[in-house]
Amino acid sequence: MHLLLTCHDLAAWRQRQEAPIHFVPTMGALHQGHEALIHAAARPVAGREPVVLVSVFVNPLQFGPQEDFGRYPRNLDADAGVAAAAGAAALFAPEAAELYPAGEAGLTRVQPPSSLRRSLCAPLRPGHFEGVATVVVRLLALIRPERLLLGEKDWQQLVILRRVVRDLGLPVQVQGCATVREADGLACSSRNRYLSADQRTQAGALPRALKIASSQSGLPGGAITGGLRQRLEAAGLEVEYAELVMAHSLEPVDRVAGLCLLASAVRCGPGRLIDHTFLMSR
Ligand code: PAJ
Repeated sequence: MHLLLTCHDLAAWRQRQEAPIHFVPTMGALHQGHEALIHAAARPVAGREPVVLVSVFVNPLQFGPQEDFGRYPRNLDADAGVAAAAGAAALFAPEAAELYPAGEAGLTRVQPPSSLRRSLCAPLRPGHFEGVATVVVRLLALIRPERLLLGEKDWQQLVILRRVVRDLGLPVQVQGCATVREADGLACSSRNRYLSADQRTQAGALPRALKIASSQSGLPGGAITGGLRQRLEAAGLEVEYAELVMAHSLEPVDRVAGLCLLASAVRCGPGRLIDHTFLMSR
């Protein structure tokens, strides 16, 4: 596997590629969720074998001042081993100065539409999705992949990036991949590493509480979110939000109609966990 540390390395590697490039952007601390994306990226499309490029970049633009940018887990050697074993042909791991040579102040940024920033994580993390959209568009411009693979785990991010790609007319196919979970149902996340053994056990209540709610599509929205909140609090988790929205427009709804997303963010010790389930009207 090629380790590319600079935009210059990347450009030289890019020029040599003839097969379609399938791109998996990450912030590193690679786990089974990332591995599944790399495996999916390596699958041929219409008989054509792709080349998989993974990026590892802890993007400062998407962290708030009180968030975990400084202590986000970083281990490039381990990540390179995981990416190579999962089938990546190249790993792009630039420093911030490579991607943002003129610094962050005054940088051209990509602001996703306000309609997708009214619910779920966006109001609690001002500037977060702008930071995500800005770095992903920057990476797409450098890499020019045919396919961009993203996890459903970060559903709002997936919806927003699909929209950014569509609105800017970027020549890339976006492929969403199912959430990979641990044995007790907790979604794999780099941030699970922050949890102590007790907190890790407690965190299992999030997918369990969502699973109960997933069979309640006939109840009023307030009863579904209220019940979810209660179960999470009873398990000792601090609820940031428990919301019911339309799965594709992310518009809040007060009853299940069509495909809806029930999503929650909780604090568990030093960690912040997000998860969701889908509800459909019968
Ligand atoms: P990161 O949290 O490292 O996630 C990288 C990709 O892996 C995202 O598409 C995310 O949705 C996916 N992913 C994470 N956990 C997953 C799981 N349990 N199952 C399936 N997929 C999972 O998301 C980011 O990084 C950043 O915001 C990024 C897009 C790289 C921009 O900086």
